[in-house]
Formats: sequence, C-alpha cells, structure tokens
Amino acid sequence: MLHIAIDGPASSGKSTLAKALSEALDIIYLDTGAMYRAVTLALQEQAIDLSDIEAVQDVLARIDIDFAASPSGQRVYLNGHDVTEAIRQDDVTNAVSEVAAIKEVRAALVAMQQRFALNQSIVMDGRDIGTVVLPEADYKFYLTASPEIRAERRFAENQAKGLSNQSYEALLESIIQRDAYDSSRAESPLRKASDAIELDNSHMTTEATVAHILNIIRQ
Ligand code: DC
Repeated sequence: MLHIAIDGPASSGKSTLAKALSEALDIIYLDTGAMYRAVTLALQEQAIDLSDIEAVQDVLARIDIDFAASPSGQRVYLNGHDVTEAIRQDDVTNAVSEVAAIKEVRAALVAMQQRFALNQSIVMDGRDIGTVVLPEADYKFYLTASPEIRAERRFAENQAKGLSNQSYEALLESIIQRDAYDSSRAESPLRKASDAIELDNSHMTTEATVAHILNIIRQ
C-alpha cells in the first residue's frame, strides 16, 4: 500500500501533479479541495448562515460527496448531482476558505478522507494532508511556486476552460488572500509537514515536476 500526500498553497500545481502520479502509479487520486468546495456549494445552495454551526452540521450530516472517472477527467458529485464545474465558479472560490476554517467541517471531511485511504493506495492533495489526514504517509510533498506564477497559470487555465473572467490582477489578489487565510486559521492551517519534501516549481514544467517526484518515489 502506498500513501502520498501533496500539500501547498492555491494553484501551486498540486492537482496536476497528483493526477499524473495517480496515472503513473495506477492508484486512486483524491482532490480534497474539491470536497471543501462541494460543502461550500451545498451551504450556499441552502443559504446557510456560517455562524449557525447547528445548521452547518445538519448539512454535513446529510452530505454525500462522490468522485467518478470520466474521459475528460474526474467528475465530482454532490448528493448525486454533477457539480464539477459549479465548484470552480468564483462564488465558491471566494467563500471556500471561510468554510474550510470551520472546525466541524474539517472534522467531517478529514474523517471521510481517512476512510478513502483505508486499505488502499492513494494520492491526496490539499493543505493538511501530510500534517493531519495522512501523518504516516509514505511520501509527503510540499509544492510551491511564486504567487505571480500561480496567478498566471490559473489565468491561462480559466481562459482555456471558460471558467471565470477574472483579470490576472484580481486572480493574484485572490490567491494571496486565500493563502493568507488558509495559513493563519486556527484549525490545521496550511503548513509544510516537518518530514515533507519541498519543491518550488516556479521555473519547472509540469513534465519536469512529475518526473522529479516519480524519481524520488521509485528510488
Ligand atoms: O485546492 P483548492 O483551491 O481546490 O482548495 C479549496 C480551499 O479548500 C482552499 O482555499 C483551502 C481549503 N482546503 C483545506 O483547507 N484543506 C484541504 N485539505 C484542501 C483544501
């Protein structure tokens, strides 16, 4: 069994790396950020006040998040509905950090993530995988890139997928804000695990990053 944890700030290339590793090693990939996004969407759809913890817990108790492979990549389902595109919209992106800071939300999602990892090989990406979700992971990577490079990559991806029409400047600002929020929250903040291997991929291609990490795993 092989457990791989990938953490790092927003748009640092974690999911691209995780997907490539899952294909190369033929193991499952779990995008934990998508789970926080799905909870955010569920809370928004039901117009839940985030300070009403009982109402938040009620939504968590009835939530069902699923993943399914498709030729165009992994699809995300919230209570049976395909929300793959909806969870990438600006409304969700702008609210997800606040939802991810709620202790009860984290407890519910960490438990789900740990169940996914029971008795099977997996690569997971997020913010607290190496520190909280899979502290015993075989490999832990902490991926970074400069905020400017991350905003450039996200801008190009949004344009290609028609996901958002935010300007580069607005994206950069939102990335910096989300990192600050995710790193300073009380509940399992974004942080490099002491035994994680850090890789700044600002000046590396995706292929070079994947090859570098595979090399470490296969050594
Ligand atoms: O990776 P992403 O941008 O899709 O993540 C969305 C948000 O969810 C991000 O702002 C931080 C939060 N998150 C988290 O707190 N813990 C995780 N394991 C994954 C994501």
